[in-house]
Amino acid sequence: MASSVLVNAGPAPAAISPTAELPVDRLGRPSRALRVSVTDRCNLRCVYCMPEDRYAWLPRAGILSFAEIDFLVERFCEIGVEKVRLTGGEPLLRRDLPDLVRLLSARRLRERSLTTNGILLADLAWPLRAAGLDRVTVSLDTLRRDRFRALTREDRLARVLTGVEAAASAGFSGLKLDTVVLRGVNDDELFDLVDFGKELGAEVRFIEYMEVGGATRWSMDQVVSRSEMLERFRRRFGEVRPLPGRGAATAERFELPGGTTFGIIASTTAPFCRACDRSRLTADGVWYPCLHARVGTDLRRRLRGGATAEELRAVLASRWRDRTDRGAEERLAGGVLTPPVLRAELAADPRLEMHTRGG
Ligand code: GTP
Ligand code: 5AD
Ligand code: SF4
Repeated sequence: MASSVLVNAGPAPAAISPTAELPVDRLGRPSRALRVSVTDRCNLRCVYCMPEDRYAWLPRAGILSFAEIDFLVERFCEIGVEKVRLTGGEPLLRRDLPDLVRLLSARRLRERSLTTNGILLADLAWPLRAAGLDRVTVSLDTLRRDRFRALTREDRLARVLTGVEAAASAGFSGLKLDTVVLRGVNDDELFDLVDFGKELGAEVRFIEYMEVGGATRWSMDQVVSRSEMLERFRRRFGEVRPLPGRGAATAERFELPGGTTFGIIASTTAPFCRACDRSRLTADGVWYPCLHARVGTDLRRRLRGGATAEELRAVLASRWRDRTDRGAEERLAGGVLTPPVLRAELAADPRLEMHTRGG
């Protein structure tokens, strides 16, 4: 499907030896984090992500098996990846997900984490922890039932909260709650969400609404910027202290008087591309160097076509060395290089959708 749009073909690059230096991209960034989407399906329809009535889904035959994902992750480890995050769509819709986590637990990774909407988490938090999952992030945009329904088209807030509680008690090394802030929709809940997180021992992170593929209702006036959020916290609490040590993290962290912390992910007004060490693998095995990238590398075709481990590693290393992406910064600078993805393009290549490339 639409392979001409996505396939970055070309001759196989020369093989590199297992002891070769880890690649860095053209901007000097290493490849340390991989987001692996395990399904493009979702059981919610968040207004900022999946607002349409119909979607083009990835063909089932193309979806990678757990063994295939594990094999590819091993190759990614060889080019420097040390953190893997499982995403979707909604990753918990993928049957037997703890089996994949178990496979990844045997890999040389510093961390395995998961981003979920929480609907199915109550039953899966413990099995995932037992399988070796280290950290969980739950998307939670509101604590109000009517709003949750309006935002997601499902009356499932209670279920999500039960899931969040299960995750809080399952012994993960970190629990985060991610909130996409929309003006006039949930931007009056910032303090309530921080309080909720504090009670639970979870860190809340506020995400600026992004104009990504699939966010077809996006408009700048719905974005509540990092600086506006900080100003609101300052007015309410006085001091808001920035915490050091951000590294390549998406979120800047802040501390309120009394020690409560929270994060802001300012992808729209203050992007962090310069330090980005992250790439994305879709459920059908196409590898994207950036959230905003139009072209990906079809790893499934190579894998199923019989490429050896060595050949795949060489492809990853070579593509990473060529990487120049800084999609969010380019958008901020005027959007000339990456104009918004059009609906027709989304229909022709579902991999341009945020929900297909892992949130
Ligand atoms: P940790 O910091 O390891 O907890 O993970 P994370 O922040 O990378 O993962 P999470 O899934 O919680 O991501 C939070 C949000 O950050 C995503 O839902 C996106 O909105 C945003 N985000 C993640 N990756 C990127 C990226 O590559 N570029 C941009 N612009 N935004 C991203
Ligand atoms: N803007 C910001 N974040 C988004 N996500 C999805 N769509 C958007 C968007 N338009 C992120 C949210 C959600 C995760 C799965 O993807 O953080 O929690
Ligand atoms: Fe919402 Fe995540 Fe599903 Fe998108 S993939 S609709 S953000 S729950």
